[in-house]
Amino acid sequence: MGSTDNIILKVDNTTAGYSEIDILHDVSIVLEAGEIVSVIGPNGAGKSTLLKAIFGCLKPKKGKVIFKNEDITGMSPEKIVKKGISYVPQVENIFPSLTIHENLEMGAFIRTDNYSSRMNEIYDLFPDLKKRRNDKAGLLSGGQRQMVAMGRALMLDPAVLLLDEPSAGLAPKLVSMIFERIKDINSTGVAMLLVEQNAREALAMARRGYVLATGKNVLDGDAKTILANKEVARLYLGG
Ligand SMILES: Nc1ncnc2c1ncn2[C@@H]1O[C@H](COP(=O)(O)OP(=O)(O)OP(=O)(O)O)[C@@H](O)[C@H]1O
Ligand SMILES: [Mg+2]
Repeated sequence: MGSTDNIILKVDNTTAGYSEIDILHDVSIVLEAGEIVSVIGPNGAGKSTLLKAIFGCLKPKKGKVIFKNEDITGMSPEKIVKKGISYVPQVENIFPSLTIHENLEMGAFIRTDNYSSRMNEIYDLFPDLKKRRNDKAGLLSGGQRQMVAMGRALMLDPAVLLLDEPSAGLAPKLVSMIFERIKDINSTGVAMLLVEQNAREALAMARRGYVLATGKNVLDGDAKTILANKEVARLYLGG
């Protein structure tokens, strides 16, 4: 891990869950400005719950979420998004009956300035979306839908992007394409917390990684070290 000065997002000993049931138990993670950090772990490990707890969809019972040295624990998603964190949920992350262009406009709903230059930057990042900007998002392929969801989240020019399984359900060729776009987004300076079931590919692209299981931190460190760990490979990377 690099110098602590560079930390942009920190989850500190956080316990959170749904009503009375705790799912995350004392989970801690850090994200440095500009880096990709991958969160992996088996189904039900609490990966999506972690992102929801960061983004204020769940109120942690214990612990803290710190963004740019400010305590944002328990703040509403509306407030958190204004501070510079965007979130692409695992499911239902686009408006199918709206066009691509309208979906991107929805992403900018809290912007009071002229966002047309940002819109152009997003279309430059995802040329496929530009071509089909007037098509209804519901008519798109899975890969294109993910691009719409990411584009929408990027409209606010976030410092941090929380991505929940962007490659889920996509054919291998599209998985590579989505990962390429994630790298492109990162190269514009956006730090990312990337939850992925395609754990090998995600770790190969990340600087650091965290393994979660049954709502607890199991392992973290340099992504290449995690990839090279035989025990991790056997348990979490399919051998
Ligand atoms: N809305 C909810 N209400 C109650 N329990 C929930 C809710 N959402 C998830 N859970 C439970 O929380 C646990 C963790 O779920 P979570 O979705 O965070 O796991 P995950 O690591 O993202 O799994 P996956 O890889 O399948 O996406 C699971 O046992 C799940 O059943
Ligand atoms: Mg999940």
